[in-house]
Amino acid sequence: MIRLMQTSDVEAVSHIEQKVQSHPWTKNQFAEAVTTYQSTVIEQDEKVVGFCILQPVLDEANLLLMAIDPSQQGRGLGYQLLEESIQLLKNNPVQIFLEVRVSNTPAIKLYEKVGFHQIDLRKNYYPNPDGSREHAIIMVKACTDDFASLFK
Ligand SMILES: CC(C)(COP(=O)(O)OP(=O)(O)OC[C@H]1O[C@@H](n2cnc3c(N)ncnc32)[C@H](O)[C@@H]1OP(=O)(O)O)[C@@H](O)C(=O)NCCC(=O)NCCS
Repeated sequence: MIRLMQTSDVEAVSHIEQKVQSHPWTKNQFAEAVTTYQSTVIEQDEKVVGFCILQPVLDEANLLLMAIDPSQQGRGLGYQLLEESIQLLKNNPVQIFLEVRVSNTPAIKLYEKVGFHQIDLRKNYYPNPDGSREHAIIMVKACTDDFASLFK
C-alpha cells in the first residue's frame, strides 16, 4: 500500500535512510518533508518499507530522495512506489528532474524503467565518506506528449 507520509512515519523512514545512505537526511529533514513536499511511503504487512520525496515546483517536479529497505529490495516495490508517487503529484508536472550518483546502477536502471533519461553530468557533485567526490547524473522524465508545452 502506498500513502502519504505522516509525522509518525519519520522514525521508520529515517531508519531506512540510515541503512542505505552514506550522508543520510536527518529526522528533522524528514519531519519537514512531511509538510513541505509530496512525501509518500510504501507499506508491506503494515510496516513502512520505503519512501519517496517529490518536490513540486510550478509546472515541474524534482525527485529529492527515495529508498526501499534493503531487506525488501529487488521485488518491484521501488518501481511501484515511484510510478504511483508521480501519479499522485497534484501539479501535473510537464517534466520531473533528479540527480543520482554515477555508481548507483540500481537507481539509474529504476529511473530509466520509469521513463527518465540522462541530460547532463555534474562533476564531483557528491561527497564520499573517504573525502573523494563522485559525479552526479542529471535525469529528466517528460510527462507530456505535447512537445510545444515544454518550450512555451
Ligand atoms: C534504487 C532502489 C530504490 C530500487 O528499489 P527496488 O525496490 O529494489 O527496485 P525494484 O525491485 O522496483 O526494481 C525496479 C527496476 O530497478 C532496476 N534495479 C533494481 N535493483 C537493481 C539492481 N540491483 N541492479 C540493477 N538494476 C536494478 C531494474 O531495472 C528493475 O527492473 P526489473 O526488475 O524489471 O529489472 C533501491 O535499490 C534503494 O533503495 N537503493 C538505496 C537508496 C538509493 O540509492 N536511492 C536512490 C537515490 S536517492
